[in-house]
Amino acid sequence: MKKFFAILFLFTFLSSTGFAGEKDMKENNLKWWQCKPVYQVYPKSFFDTDGTGSGDINGITSKLDYLKSLDVGAIWITPVYPSPMVDNGYDIADYTGINESFGSMDDFDKLLAEAKKRDIKIVMDLVFNHTSDKHEWFLESKKNTKNPKADWYIWRDAKDGKEPTNWRAIFGGSAWTWCEERKQYYLHTFAKEQPDLNWNNPDVRRALYDAANFWLSKGVGGFRIDAITYIKKPRTFTDGKPDGKDGTVNIHTMTANQPGILDFLREFKHRVFDGKDIFTVGEANGVSARELPEWVGKDGVFDMLFEFSHVDLPFDAAEIWCYPKEWKLTDLKRALSNSQKATRDNGWYPIFFENHDQPRSVNHFFPEGADPKKAAKALATVLMTMRGTPFIYQGQELGMTNVSWNDIEKYNDISSHGQYEFAIKEGFSPDDAMKFVRYFSRDNARTPMQWNDEANAGFSPEGVKTWLPVNENYKTINAEAEEKDSDSVLAFYRKLGALRRAHETLIAGDYKEIFSDSEEIFAFERSFNGETLTTLVNFSLKPVKVPAEIVNKNLVLSSEKVFDDSELQPLEARIYKIK
Ligand code: GLC
Repeated sequence: MKKFFAILFLFTFLSSTGFAGEKDMKENNLKWWQCKPVYQVYPKSFFDTDGTGSGDINGITSKLDYLKSLDVGAIWITPVYPSPMVDNGYDIADYTGINESFGSMDDFDKLLAEAKKRDIKIVMDLVFNHTSDKHEWFLESKKNTKNPKADWYIWRDAKDGKEPTNWRAIFGGSAWTWCEERKQYYLHTFAKEQPDLNWNNPDVRRALYDAANFWLSKGVGGFRIDAITYIKKPRTFTDGKPDGKDGTVNIHTMTANQPGILDFLREFKHRVFDGKDIFTVGEANGVSARELPEWVGKDGVFDMLFEFSHVDLPFDAAEIWCYPKEWKLTDLKRALSNSQKATRDNGWYPIFFENHDQPRSVNHFFPEGADPKKAAKALATVLMTMRGTPFIYQGQELGMTNVSWNDIEKYNDISSHGQYEFAIKEGFSPDDAMKFVRYFSRDNARTPMQWNDEANAGFSPEGVKTWLPVNENYKTINAEAEEKDSDSVLAFYRKLGALRRAHETLIAGDYKEIFSDSEEIFAFERSFNGETLTTLVNFSLKPVKVPAEIVNKNLVLSSEKVFDDSELQPLEARIYKIK
């Protein structure tokens, strides 16, 4: 009987409110980018229209209707600028061009125009901590110590015939590379092909602001700003306490978020972002939730900040894959709730569980053995009902999963190679080193998008070799199959999207975590204008009793068919409403 009423209510609700039509969001004074999800596209893996095995800009344009069906307000595209692609575009050789492998500037302009027709903004990725070593600025700078760009990068003499400090680059190896031409070392936070720019030089800053303004004049809707916490270097360069057996220390520990960084960023904001109807989201590894108010909001420098406390739970600051830590659900909840608290009165939070640098979330946040489809829906519920702008990474809406390759040579991701070599140096066996790579590799998120069950998952035409192998599970996990299945992860994302449109509470409402001590349930309330919606997600693989306070509330949406009102099934997510 209970089951009958639960299902009856669910259907009555679906047809009578949320899914019948949109309401105006008039009362909350929020900006456009606070009201709709942002979708992240990794263009190389999104859709290949010219049969090269690699995705392109026209591929994004041709899928705009699909993205519109997810009701996204903006698409953040990772770098499409000319680049030798050592780090898949994060090594930029020209800030105001388009990489031929992705298409042309005309293709880009067409994407902007077509997106605009659908009321979708295009958001660019600004990589301003470093350039490619093939950028003409670096080619000039490396010639000698006297040329006009001599001071555009960070150069130091050798110390006792060796690297100036013991800093290890984030992708492995020394953070210093010797340049024979100039007879000095240059600093690189990431790969040796990604030399760090010298932000102390006003000419460098001016050139970067010009580049950002170039894209604004085209009408882009904002920026994701890459690796921004590394732009300010310490006043003096000294050795750090080694965290590896080879005597090196991760550069992050030595240079991230240095005092004075906000002065640079205030200038950046003033010269580029102020007064524009855009949004900015900084990638801010090294900034804690406590510091968020200085970075975002009224007096902050960005609109939002990606901070990593929740995705980095398995690591200490140095992010060494071969020394992962155990973590519990309460750790995850605390990390997320801290960010919610920090942005409650000031600023805004970009909610994310995936991006092109993270493993797939269904493998990252749930116990081993979790059903990926159920897990994907459970996490989608958190993503789409917390306070902030949800960022959906391509394929997350299908429940795409990690890959499982045995050979390091199969991996393209530069950081997977660096972490593998580091693990071997630390004394791990190749098999063990591969376990860490399989779990944490960025390639997990970079395999081609799964569009259908045909050859190459419909990403590239049949017979083409895709730049990274397609995940073997594409026959069942793919957009076309999920379009037809009302119980699919994709269908569930759309339901959540419709629920957000129907309930302003999910957009503008306050956030309050409840049952915070539970190691099984993640639960929180959103309240606005007298309405309260409660999200309840069972992160465990066991059935869990619905807390007595909730059991009699109105069920609005559930990720599974409800058999028993009083019990959440493993990985089930529910949303209740209190009148
Ligand atoms: C950021 C990007 C990552 C890139 C790195 C260097 O963390 O998200 O993909 O490798 O910066 O630019």
